[in-house]
Amino acid sequence: MEQFALEVEDLVMHFGPVRAVDGVTLRVRQGSVVALVGESGSGKSTVGRCIVRLLEPTGGTIRLADADVTHLNRRQLRPHRRDVSIVFQDPAGSLDPRLSVGDIVGEPLRLMRRKDIPAKVSEALRRVGLRPEVANRSPHELSGGQRQRVSIARALISEPRLLVADEPTSALDVSVQAAVLNLLADLQRDLGFACLFITHDLSAVEYLADEVAVMYLGQLVEQGPRARIFGVPAHPYTQALLSAAPVPDPAEQRARKPVLLGDDLPSAIDPPSGCRFHTRCPVAVDKCRTVVPESRVIGEGGHQVACHLVSDDGTGPDVRTVEGATP
Ligand SMILES: Nc1ncnc2c1ncn2[C@@H]1O[C@H](COP(=O)(O)OP(=O)(O)OP(=O)(O)O)[C@@H](O)[C@H]1O
Ligand SMILES: [Mg+2]
Repeated sequence: MEQFALEVEDLVMHFGPVRAVDGVTLRVRQGSVVALVGESGSGKSTVGRCIVRLLEPTGGTIRLADADVTHLNRRQLRPHRRDVSIVFQDPAGSLDPRLSVGDIVGEPLRLMRRKDIPAKVSEALRRVGLRPEVANRSPHELSGGQRQRVSIARALISEPRLLVADEPTSALDVSVQAAVLNLLADLQRDLGFACLFITHDLSAVEYLADEVAVMYLGQLVEQGPRARIFGVPAHPYTQALLSAAPVPDPAEQRARKPVLLGDDLPSAIDPPSGCRFHTRCPVAVDKCRTVVPESRVIGEGGHQVACHLVSDDGTGPDVRTVEGATP
């Protein structure tokens, strides 16, 4: 039987009238990395916060290593502490300035009443490239990159099966982003934890992820193996996202024409009828305005897409070559 570190089924998270997450189904295999991508406001962080149960979902189920944690209270969640950790975007906001780095990193172990905490803290700091003496410092004495290393050390000290990394490098100076990303990749390979990697950075996705899930206005529009998402993206929204991503080759970059999506993301309070992407989709037809597209498998590795215009073998329009979609 396949082992999953995380199984999310039909997850719904509404904040009053705001339908931040509206039916997300996704799985992360033990030891694998799934990237969750999509523009600002699409609901990625809300998915992450539900998974680590900082939020109690409005609907659906969350299973961590086969245990249903969807509605457990604080006390009931205690035995599942080792199943998941989270690293946030902003290390300054997520580290308590009144505590020393050593206290911050060791806290998960104290909550689990473990022994030999100082030695384990030293080891956790070493693993993220910090010297043991940093344990005595305050987080505000550290640089942004060092602070994010501290949050990573804290998240991994309990040896979780799953790490939710919510844009772990996007608040950092560009000059240190690559180092922190490399560190995460090395740790993932060496320690073997599964990871839900939330990001805007498609080059990081290509480098780190085994699978990719693309989110649009509270729902997944496409998911599948990284090579398929980058090689044969089927959903017009995925194609548009990829067309806007920078590529390393300057000549290719100059020849690139990003697909223009026009308006901003529609409101999550009153999402468009039918396919939620139809208001910005360059190839939408009448059916897209009225009928909600079901997600279905269109190719190997469980490649799934929710689009009326894609046929069962994965063929369909490519908005990157549609007249009028690019400048
Ligand atoms: N606590 C909350 N109360 C009300 N609305 C919320 C709350 N948290 C998030 N939202 C709304 O839910 C939607 C999804 O937000 P979320 O932060 O999950 O998006 P995101 O994809 O992580 O965006 P970003 O890329 O900017 O981080 C947005 O419309 C946001 O305003
Ligand atoms: Mg977010």
